[in-house]
Amino acid sequence: MTKDELIQEAFKAMKHTYSPYSHFPVGAAVLTSDGEVTYGANIENASYPAGICGERAALFAAYSKGYTRDDIVALAIVSNGKRIAAPCGVCRQVLYELLNSDTPIYLATPDEQKTVTMQEILPMAFGPEDLAE
Ligand code: THU
Repeated sequence: MTKDELIQEAFKAMKHTYSPYSHFPVGAAVLTSDGEVTYGANIENASYPAGICGERAALFAAYSKGYTRDDIVALAIVSNGKRIAAPCGVCRQVLYELLNSDTPIYLATPDEQKTVTMQEILPMAFGPEDLAE
């Protein structure tokens, strides 16, 4: 599956957003090495912090199927905003642990695309290695 195809899958996932408060839909798609695509969308809640971002929803869904970081080939995150939505700080912390540092992350709007990696967008991260004895 190409980058453009995975981005299109993330736009499909975005249709399942539940974002009545922000009106800012986000879709995400995780491609694993067996060719499977796992989807996520942002799901909000009247108790605002209880909601979840699209990329975390997709990654948690992939892990819930039994995939782990070495199975993940790429992650696409899309929105309809005026500019590319980069993962929020909480998502960066989660992605740092659940993705390999060089796994491509495709960020896109209908008009723009950018590829980043966790090593680029969360340098000097706190992670599991810091808790090792
Ligand atoms: N959101 C995401 O799902 N991913 C991002 O990378 C940025 C923000 C969601 C959270 C909330 O539902 C809405 O977008 C507005 O912040």
